[in-house]
Amino acid sequence: MSTPQYDRIAARNGEIDRLLRAYREDVEIPSVLRALGPVDGASVLDLGCGAGPFTRLLRREGAADVLGVDASAPMVELARRAEQEEPLGVRYAVRDIADLPVLGAFDVVTAFAVLHYADTFDTLTRMCHAAHTNLAPGGRLLALVGNPRLEPGVTQPNGFVLHRPDAPRDGDPYTVSLPTTPPSTLTVHYWTCAAYEKALTDCGFTDVTWAPVYGLPTGTEPVNLIVTARHR
Ligand SMILES: C[S@@+](CC[C@H](N)C(=O)[O-])C[C@H]1O[C@@H](n2cnc3c(N)ncnc32)[C@H](O)[C@@H]1O
Repeated sequence: MSTPQYDRIAARNGEIDRLLRAYREDVEIPSVLRALGPVDGASVLDLGCGAGPFTRLLRREGAADVLGVDASAPMVELARRAEQEEPLGVRYAVRDIADLPVLGAFDVVTAFAVLHYADTFDTLTRMCHAAHTNLAPGGRLLALVGNPRLEPGVTQPNGFVLHRPDAPRDGDPYTVSLPTTPPSTLTVHYWTCAAYEKALTDCGFTDVTWAPVYGLPTGTEPVNLIVTARHR
């Protein structure tokens, strides 16, 4: 499988990155780093790495070995270009994470804004299975997933607008508008927290926990939720 919508959108990645930067830097990165804890010396597999912002962040945070995988060759090309421009020693591979073999026994697996691209529960489970089989015993997963509580039609703190059906059910597709010029649209899938929890525990994860998201005004829902889990 490739991700045709990302193959197309890769050309606009720079603009999207600039639009999302403030929310990412003020809210997502500090929250993710708190939820993850120290990664000093850790081996990290980043599923759906895109252009590699989090692979590079985790390497800078002290991870010893970071491998990013993504189904979109143009997105991986952007990540490799960033690595060429500023070498950090991050490795990349083009891979579908719903069909990922064991690439290693990593201390940490991350999945930033990718699990909600799963179009069926089977696909979601296969993505979680890839995370589980690539972790060393005791290893940790951290995923940033679409917040099912967000209100459709409302501009989110990062500029996204969700176009969701009323009363969505697990797996329902919906579009997200991004305020690029001209506007870009991505299709993702609605999953409840219970569906993520079931997919993770079905694969053998334990300690499935929703971590706090910091840096938002009281009462504001985060764009993405953070879930962590542990390899038994
Ligand atoms: C919203 S982007 C997130 C990229 C990066 N993690 C970040 O936070 O900037 C979603 C990424 O998931 C990738 N993706 C979607 N489905 C995938 C799959 N089945 N296997 C691997 N990558 C996938 C897309 O190609 C895209 O690069």
